Amino acid sequence: MPKPAKHWIYRHTPNARICHWIMVLSFFYLLYSGIMIFLHFPELYWGKVGFQGYPAIFKLEDWGISWELAEELGDRRWGRNYHYMFAWIFLINGLIYILWNGWQKKFYRKMLPTKQELSPPHLKSELKRHMKFRAAEGSAAAKYNVLQKLTYLIVLFILFPFMIISGFAQMPAFTAISPELIDMFGGRQTARTLHVICSLLLVLFVVVHLVQMVVTGVLNQLRGMITGKYEITSESSEASS
Ligand code: HEM
Repeated sequence: MPKPAKHWIYRHTPNARICHWIMVLSFFYLLYSGIMIFLHFPELYWGKVGFQGYPAIFKLEDWGISWELAEELGDRRWGRNYHYMFAWIFLINGLIYILWNGWQKKFYRKMLPTKQELSPPHLKSELKRHMKFRAAEGSAAAKYNVLQKLTYLIVLFILFPFMIISGFAQMPAFTAISPELIDMFGGRQTARTLHVICSLLLVLFVVVHLVQMVVTGVLNQLRGMITGKYEITSESSEASS
């Protein structure tokens, strides 16, 4: 059998690549510093009130890590410094990404699923392919698949903004001017708990994202996100981005 032909396509624009790597760095530091802050107060509450001894909805102690040990492992001062610095980098980088790409038609072509892609039979077959850890082939590999598009849209337009809003709801300097943000959540403790739950969802996204990268070829994907060039084995070389 003859070997299938290989093509190079230009997959990611420079702005997507630059913003992606800044986002990776800031997400890493936000998560790490967030864990350091959490360890200093390792319980989660619901509503307006929360303190040691108050009924908690989550206690690290129940998982074998005492309050004292958690406090020793965490570092709130370092955590706060880094969390606030990277929160700004994350926010500004996100705005630049959206504004820079938002006016480009190809951004919508790349990200928005088509009617056909959203049809139940197509969704079912894509789900099956993903469950079998099979990479897309041919020209289909040149563009984002429907599950990828839906996931990116949820992360970009729901989870990231939620992290920012629930983050602001925990900042006394911000809620002093805009107390209705705390009321919107039903209390600072609820905002904090939802901020942590949303970070866990983002960690889940990153794990699945990395597994997908391995399944579809680490080197090719990394090269694509660094240089923009992506190799596909295909009958046609229709570029995606
Ligand atoms: C997207 C990535 C982010 C992750 C994974 C993340 C994670 C966390 C975690 C785990 C905590 C600890 C919760 C606690 O114990 O109080 C935390 C706290 C906090 N986060 Fe985030 N966060 C992210 C983004 C943001 C952003 C963008 C902002 C600002 C708009 C923000 C503002 C805050 C604030 C104000 C706190 C409370 C810090 C304190 O008690 O001093 N976070 N974050």
